[in-house]
Amino acid sequence: MPKAIYVLNGPNLNLLGVREPEIYGYTTLADIEANCAKRLEGTGHALVFRQSNHEGELIDWIHEAREHGCALIINPAGYGHTSVALLDALKALSIPVIECHLSNPQTREAFRHHSYVSLAAKGIIAGFGATGYELAIQAALSLTDNA
Ligand code: DQA
Repeated sequence: MPKAIYVLNGPNLNLLGVREPEIYGYTTLADIEANCAKRLEGTGHALVFRQSNHEGELIDWIHEAREHGCALIINPAGYGHTSVALLDALKALSIPVIECHLSNPQTREAFRHHSYVSLAAKGIIAGFGATGYELAIQAALSLTDNA
């Protein structure tokens, strides 16, 4: 039985669709979850898709993925730029980590150019809007099933 693919979302991503839509688009997080679930249909992998505005809760879920996950996709949102604790939790994983952003932080304010999470990520998908999550699922599948 294949393990789950975790998709974790950081602060303010619950507001997708209404939050700065000119940057993040009109697709809601529920829509993104449905697209990820569809992409996993027939693969045998369960989807664990969650969002939290709390750093500690995200860390608890990363710890959970150590046992139950085969790959972890994370959009750390603002915490990517600030959280050493999130980086430390990700570094304790032995499964691949894929960092995903809707926007391309490299083309935005300077404080978004650095990501602690990138130091633990196998790869980064950024700038493709909601489609980026489906690309991340595809990357997760190729890293796990062809491993
Ligand atoms: C984001 C980019 C971050 O800089 C920002 O803080 C977010 C969203 C993105 O998906 O583009 O909240 O992670």
